[in-house]
Amino acid sequence: MKDSDSAMKYNNRPQSMNGFDEEVEFLPATNSKKVEKRGPKKKFVLLGVVIGAALLSLTVGLLVWHFAYRNARVQRVYTGFLRIANTEFRDAYENSTTAEFNELSERVTNTLKNVYLADKDIAPYIQQCSVHAFSEGIDNSVMGYYWSEFSVPAYREVAMDKAISELKLPSVNPRQRSSAVVSLVAYPADPQIARNFRDKSCAFFLHSQTGSVTKFSSPGFPDSAYPPNVRCQWTLRADAGHMIHLNFKTFRMEKCKVNGGDYVTLYDSLSPLEPRILNRLCGSYPPSYNLTFFSSENVMLVTLVTDYVGKFPGFHAEFKQLPKITLCGGNIKDSNGNITSPYFPAHYPPNRDCIWQIEVPNNKHVKLRFNLFYVADPGAPANQCTKDYVEVKAKKYCGEQKSFVVSSDSNKISVRFVSDQSYTDTGFTAEYLSFEPQNPCPNQFSCMTGRCISLDKKCDGWNDCDDFSDELACTCTDQQFRCASSNHCKPKYFVCDGVNDCGDNSDELQCKCPENMFKCGNGKCIPNAKKCDQTDDCGDGYDEAKCDKVAVTACTQYTYKCKNNQCISKKNPECDGEQDCSDGSDEDTSKCSCGKRPYTKKSRIVGGINADIGEFPWQVSLHTKNDKHTCGASLVSSKFLISAAHCFQDDRSIRYSDPALWTAYLGLHDQAQIKGSNVMERKIKNIRAHTGFNDNTYDNDIAVLELESPVSFTDFIQPICIPDTSYDFPVGKSLWVTGWGALTEGGTGAQILQKAEIRVINQTECNKLLDDQLSLRMLCAGFISGGIDACQGDSGGPLSSVESNSKIYLAGIVSWGEGCARRNKPGVYTRVTAMRDWIKEKTGL
Ligand code: ARG
Repeated sequence: MKDSDSAMKYNNRPQSMNGFDEEVEFLPATNSKKVEKRGPKKKFVLLGVVIGAALLSLTVGLLVWHFAYRNARVQRVYTGFLRIANTEFRDAYENSTTAEFNELSERVTNTLKNVYLADKDIAPYIQQCSVHAFSEGIDNSVMGYYWSEFSVPAYREVAMDKAISELKLPSVNPRQRSSAVVSLVAYPADPQIARNFRDKSCAFFLHSQTGSVTKFSSPGFPDSAYPPNVRCQWTLRADAGHMIHLNFKTFRMEKCKVNGGDYVTLYDSLSPLEPRILNRLCGSYPPSYNLTFFSSENVMLVTLVTDYVGKFPGFHAEFKQLPKITLCGGNIKDSNGNITSPYFPAHYPPNRDCIWQIEVPNNKHVKLRFNLFYVADPGAPANQCTKDYVEVKAKKYCGEQKSFVVSSDSNKISVRFVSDQSYTDTGFTAEYLSFEPQNPCPNQFSCMTGRCISLDKKCDGWNDCDDFSDELACTCTDQQFRCASSNHCKPKYFVCDGVNDCGDNSDELQCKCPENMFKCGNGKCIPNAKKCDQTDDCGDGYDEAKCDKVAVTACTQYTYKCKNNQCISKKNPECDGEQDCSDGSDEDTSKCSCGKRPYTKKSRIVGGINADIGEFPWQVSLHTKNDKHTCGASLVSSKFLISAAHCFQDDRSIRYSDPALWTAYLGLHDQAQIKGSNVMERKIKNIRAHTGFNDNTYDNDIAVLELESPVSFTDFIQPICIPDTSYDFPVGKSLWVTGWGALTEGGTGAQILQKAEIRVINQTECNKLLDDQLSLRMLCAGFISGGIDACQGDSGGPLSSVESNSKIYLAGIVSWGEGCARRNKPGVYTRVTAMRDWIKEKTGL
């Protein structure tokens, strides 16, 4: 509306009959004649010829421009919707083959055409327009969905978009009783859209049946992959006064690509309008992901676009209708409880505005803790909550947030949640709690963020409050040192671990080699220029092993050895997608088809630290006779497992070394479902524990198990990669430990597979904490502050490392620890790189 005067200006421009505007001038030809008549004076002849030639070429140029460029036409397609007032919706309008549909469609199309014809900027270019669907509108009206196609001279494309967006409908007398188009919305669309609507070969029209669900799936599902280069669409409808609840039961498509690729788009409209996109989906979602969406009215459009590459199963979806309820939020008078965005964990519906007024007893204050927070709208500019957001205490929150706390200044707090027309997310969950304003955290430390943390987390070197308020004004203990600029106390083992823990690098400065020097594996400093110069300047070969460039070099413990026994200087060359060995053995497919996760998306709503289904498909549960989970293991090929030797040591009553005692469960997620359809069960043919395993020291804690018969790989069963001897898992790298072991020290095992993210710890520092009990075949990982660790029952299980080639490697095997998750007692793992040759010897892998 604000553009009404610019529209005026635009319309007032003089127009030529053929639709070209006034800038066209064909004057040069007449002018050239005048030049010729100037007379016979010789000195002018030459000038005349020159001018004539110049004018001729100008004319030719103009003609070329006129025919080649001005006439170059482009297809412009717009999709949109319009409202037809004073018209009652009839069921027949849902079906484009009925007489009623055609009658209304024709009438509306004519109105639309007349609107176009009345606009001088649009009229000359009309090609076609078509109303392809109707749905119920508000106040006795019908919504019509249409597309229009124009053939526009290339140079007028932008002007055309403007004219369409500013299009005015002839004014209708508000008292008029007969039907009339009263509003019009249009957006430019891909010309493909018009073609899609004409081509009905992959178009489906579904109306929800009361009390039952309607199912649909991508072409070929589940028997074959969906075809390449398809454009399909599903028109979903519900009865008037209802909304659509759509749920994808399976979603397995090509990995998301920035441009192109295969994707499904959901629209909160029957026209594929960009601003009405509910979501765009690609990749594959684990079955536990709640992929549920709502429409705001009783229609939804689902489209599928695929490119020419890749074979993927596709999707299977169900939808049903629910009475349309727009009420949300409310007044709450309770001293504690929970609130969530509408329909959490489903994607919240578009167009909502919910307000919760929370009131606690008079003398108390309220604390709100957002636990899960996913309110992202890709259309919103970064860090500006202009689209979907949550507002508390005049501050807007949006995007994905880690858990956070907001405290009130009185006994009331109000929370507002707003979702706009486009892009919905899974929303939020929040807990509210009343507290004494004088004592917000009884027996706990109160962070400036309002969070309460246990007292022993104060001054432990970890940012437990999220704003470092627990690490201010601390006196460092003798196991800590003080960071230079922040004054925070940090555990001493952070010093020289290669990670900038202080933020100002002060924990790494004293141990670094001087500037322009490189630090060798043995601690020696050499000039940077001597690194990767093909001579061993360190004395241990370290400077020639981790290079960016590949060169054949002397073999050391740090270099990678090819099958032909040549050693190369590149860091982690195995399966990185580039052939580095002259014989190609570093990219051998038998070696590189491992460590893959079938699901590209992570489930967000699975609580706590439960692993997702299919997230660690190499995780194996080893049960003993009485059907009890006893140890973990990792699948490394179709018939071999790697586990810990200490799991197979006989004790006085049980012969753990006997293969017949054990059963392996692969593809398992929930210990209560060992008979589940994704689970494979195998007896063990033989167990080879490392002969160097030492019962006292736990040195060489590794065993290889052979399955009685091989397993086939599925979405839930995949082998993990075994790293080469020279593979580097640097200090500070984050790794995942998984298992069904005890949830607390001395506690009981988990039913659902658990995962925890831990970090590689400096060997020397860890050895100090663990009283010199580490051997070179052990690796320390965890947290000095405690709290996160493996525990009894996790033994033998994997320590998985996600590498830059996006494959996952077995960095360690759960081996031992002093208690579980204790402060200053990180977990100890068998260092798999140190066992590489032994594994090869026992398995041939
Ligand atoms: N030995 C234990 C087992 O048999 C595993 C201990 C791991 N402990 C630890 N704190 N990381 O399950």
